[in-house]
Amino acid sequence: MKILVIGSGGREHALVWKIKRSALVKKIYCAPGNYGISKDAVCENIPVNDLQRLLHFATKEKMDLTIVGPEQPLVDGIVDLFESNGLAIFGPSQRAAQLEGSKVFTKELLARHRIPSAAYAKFTNYEDAKAYAAVAKMPVVIKADGLAAGKGVVICHEPAQAMEALLQMMQNRVFGAAGATVIIEEFLTGEEVSILAISDGENLVYLAPAQDHKRIFDGDQGANTGGMGAYAPTPFLDAETLQRIKTEIMAPTIKAMAQEDRPYRGVLYAGLILTQDGPKVLEYNCRFGDPETQVILPLAQSDLVEAILAARSGLLHRFDWRNRSGATAGVVIASGGYPEKYTTGKRIYGLEKPLQKETLLFHSGTKGVEGQAVTAGGRVLTVTAWAENLQQAIASAYQTVGKITFDGAYYRKDIGAKGLR
Ligand code: AMP
Ligand code: GLY
Repeated sequence: MKILVIGSGGREHALVWKIKRSALVKKIYCAPGNYGISKDAVCENIPVNDLQRLLHFATKEKMDLTIVGPEQPLVDGIVDLFESNGLAIFGPSQRAAQLEGSKVFTKELLARHRIPSAAYAKFTNYEDAKAYAAVAKMPVVIKADGLAAGKGVVICHEPAQAMEALLQMMQNRVFGAAGATVIIEEFLTGEEVSILAISDGENLVYLAPAQDHKRIFDGDQGANTGGMGAYAPTPFLDAETLQRIKTEIMAPTIKAMAQEDRPYRGVLYAGLILTQDGPKVLEYNCRFGDPETQVILPLAQSDLVEAILAARSGLLHRFDWRNRSGATAGVVIASGGYPEKYTTGKRIYGLEKPLQKETLLFHSGTKGVEGQAVTAGGRVLTVTAWAENLQQAIASAYQTVGKITFDGAYYRKDIGAKGLR
């Protein structure tokens, strides 16, 4: 098979790495890719939101399958476009991708089908939202309805913070039309877990449960980021809770989507919180997670391409996803200043050294300049290590992290610590 991966992050590098290990695959392409991906796949410099050029490229190269990394092209309807042109592609349709594309859509779907999530109110009127926030019990969580590049969620501990968030989203439209409607949600406490499953529209196959580290600083302090590291599996998630997640949340969501004529085929990624009242949905994503994918795929034994083909033909119930024993930990190295302002173009040192056993290096914001790797984004690399147990995996990942340097490199020192408690 000839396979095209769309995207340019660590997630896509991990997808390329895993797909390359499939006996079904002959050649891998990536659009647009990055410096690290260009060593493993043929990169074609097409932006992920240029659907027409992607279609033209996949048609011309006669791709047997396209796998989509980021949410934007999915929400923009790339799957519908490719399928209507006779091309095989893996991901949800535009209507199904609304699970990530609209938080209002998702909250209303969850409410209609009694799937556990935080209590909420929805506002399209700025004055009404302010009036509600003025008397709401703090903290509250304010969310822009549409896609906001991971920045559309604000946790407010004081009414003044809530007023500011509403002003920015609804009046100043810092996220454009995505902030025209907002949700004000109950603040939930508990351990967070990312559950990713592959679905054929009816059946689900579960990948290893993972935990992301969204905040920039150690101890989950500071601003939200795309994710600063992850590990899998999650020791605190017991079998009974996992079963509840499957039967009370994941399977009912897939069923609800089918019932509402939005059959969901693709990766369903639930951001969940384990509250005292049981697991609840914080959000859905319609794709693989980043950096979760960088720890979930190196832990897998099964062939991802086989799983995707089973999902495309509605035969997932016959597919058994297997993981290795042990654990994986992935540490993101970012540009200093991320997720706010940062500079790029810094030469990266230490990449040429041979990696330790069971260690993988996934590139995010990197590019090649005169044959040298330089930084080209906020998140630059993910170092993933596998070991017999989580503690060793963490130690091993940090050993390699310590050998890679660039001007202003920053990483969290506590990735995986919550899994050891
Ligand atoms: P999201 O982009 O929706 O995943 O939200 C980003 C982060 O905000 C989540 O990973 C949580 O840490 C936090 N968050 C979102 N909704 C809530 C909530 N209702 N209660 C507590 N924390 C939340
Ligand atoms: N790890 C967060 C995300 O992929 O959205």
